[in-house]
Parts: sequence; structure tokens; C-alpha cells
Amino acid sequence: MAIELRQLSPVSMDVLIIGGGIIGLSIAVELAKTQGRVGIIDGGFPGTAAQAAAGMLAPGAEQIPPGAMRDLCEASLQCYPAWIQDLEERTGQTTGYWPCGIVVPVTSQAGGHHRGLWLNREQLDQHQPGLGADFIGGWWYPNDGQVDNRLLHAVLYQAAQSLGVQFFSHETVVRIASQGTKITQVVTHEASHQAGHYVLTTGAWTYKLLSLPVRPRKGQMLALQAPHAPGLNQVVFASAYLVPRRDGRLVVGATSEDVGFQDGITAGGLHQLLEAAIQTYPPLRDWPILETWWGYRPVTPDECPILGPSPWENLTLATGHYRNGILLAPITAHLISKYLNGHPWPSELAFCRWDRFGHTLNLL
Ligand code: GLY
Repeated sequence: MAIELRQLSPVSMDVLIIGGGIIGLSIAVELAKTQGRVGIIDGGFPGTAAQAAAGMLAPGAEQIPPGAMRDLCEASLQCYPAWIQDLEERTGQTTGYWPCGIVVPVTSQAGGHHRGLWLNREQLDQHQPGLGADFIGGWWYPNDGQVDNRLLHAVLYQAAQSLGVQFFSHETVVRIASQGTKITQVVTHEASHQAGHYVLTTGAWTYKLLSLPVRPRKGQMLALQAPHAPGLNQVVFASAYLVPRRDGRLVVGATSEDVGFQDGITAGGLHQLLEAAIQTYPPLRDWPILETWWGYRPVTPDECPILGPSPWENLTLATGHYRNGILLAPITAHLISKYLNGHPWPSELAFCRWDRFGHTLNLL
């Protein structure tokens, strides 16, 4: 079905996506399957969630309370196998998708929204030998898993290129211009771009362009080298999370810091991560550190994403995915593509609309 676009004249593209992270690329790939000219502007900032995330697919282990947000996360998890298969077949590249399950070892059974399978200490040891002595057991989420977000980003980029998506890389958007209820152009340091429709996927950087309540929530991370691959049998999620890649790299995350855009690794951040990681799985004390990095989650006041229509008839929003952007990528792409193809925004997704916050929205 063709996108119902209210064409501006002249236009250089049918749809212009502002933000080349996992969400922007996922939407671009979906749109480019059925549409003509799709473009992406990407500022190439350091600290994007696409590069910084651990890639956990964890609606269970993240303990998302029951309700519409959890349903959305579960629906996206269900999309993953077919979505990944399509991307990998298109590109001939792997994303490192691994539905390995996630275990959440605990020191007490009280609290939280756990709904996994309970493992007592003996069962936990069979499941994952070597966990810290303080754990009394753990919750097992067999349907949770992981994807290598950096590989996924590269695969999405390649898929988008093969589908003819036009890239405007390393262009920083300075301003989005409007006239009445229409966006008229996107101005970058390099050029000004016009399109029939625009999609905003700028993650933690959103508030620089639009007065939406999306803020950066910093996370510091590190990676260790396990002596044997993979270092653990599944993801382990305690006060730190340990995400074993199939090649023996172990990703350890993450701090959660409300410090704005404050680039860099700190002594306190690393100390917190290493202490929690060693307590969770003492054998990793001897593993070499491969890399440290940081990134910014795009957090909203209610920790749910902002998806769907905006006050401008040719601007659609897909931002604020906070801790679940990698997980929510396929369902976001599906929903935004469907909306741009003329379907109304579903009423059960009102919890994702920008106007739930009760503020007016201004371009900055
Ligand atoms: N999804 C894990 C995190 O945001 O740290």
C-alpha cells in the first residue's frame, strides 16, 4: 500500500527520518520495502543507545509492570525471530540474535514484578554454575534473550542501503521549520532537506529539536573477555547484568545516572559495575577488561516511549524508548510504517502518544 503523503512541492524525498539509530534504521527498512524515496539524517553523535546498549531483549527480567507497556514489549519480542531472519537473509550478515533466556538471581524472594519460573539455589547452580554465594535462588525467563546491538545496527544499515535508503550522515540537525500545521524543512549544518513526511527518531537528543520531555539517562558499561566462549550459559541480571556474546565477550552493564550529557567513564561508575559484576559471578574477577564505554538512554517521565502522531500533520514521533529500544525496534517499525500507510493510530496505543503529558509542543 502506498504511503498517504500530503506532498509538498518540490520534495526531495517521500519520507525523511531524523535520527539514524536502531529505531530510525528499523523504520527506514520497513518503509523502504513498500515505498519510494526514504532518507535518513544522522548526526553521528557518540553515546547513542545503538552502540552503547547491551542488547538485552528482556520484558521479563526488566520487570515491566503488567499493562499496555508490557504488552507492547511482549509483542515486539514475538516479532524478533522473523524480523531477524528477514534482515539476515537480506544482508547475509549475522545480528548475534540469541534467544538464550535470562536468569535473575536474588538474595530474597520479596518485591518486584517477577513472573518467571522460580529456581531454588540447587536448580540455579545447575542452570548457571559459579554464581555468587548470597543468592538464595533466581527467576528464569526462558523467552527473554539478546541481540548484538552493534551488529544489528550494522545489519540494519546494510539492509537500508540495499533497499535504496538515502543517507545524510554526520549532518547535525539545527532546526525543524514549520508553517501552520506542516513541517516545511529540516535544516542541518550542511543543507536543508524537504520531504512529504518526517519521522523523528532522535532518542536522547530529542529535546534539542522539540519540547518533548525526553532526557538522557547515562549508562556506563564495560566488556570482559571470558576464557571460553560463551562465558555464561545465558544472560544473568542481578545488580549488574552480564550479557555473554557467543564469541566470549561478556558485556557488563550498567549505571543509571541522571547527569545530562556528561560524556566519559568515571572511577565511581566503573567501581559500581565491577563490584556488582564480581558479586554476581565471582570467576570473572580474573577476566581481562576489553573495553569501557557509555551511552544515553532516552527516558520519558513515565518511562514509556513516545510514538505516533504529532501536532504537525506530516511529522510522526518515535522516540523515548528508555531501557527497551532494542527490544521495541521491530514493533515500532511495524506500527510507524502502518500509520504512514494510512491506518489510524491504534486506540490501545494512546499511552504512547505525545499529548499524554498535557503540555503543548513547540519546535525549538
Ligand atoms: N536495557 C538495559 C539498560 O538500559 O541498562
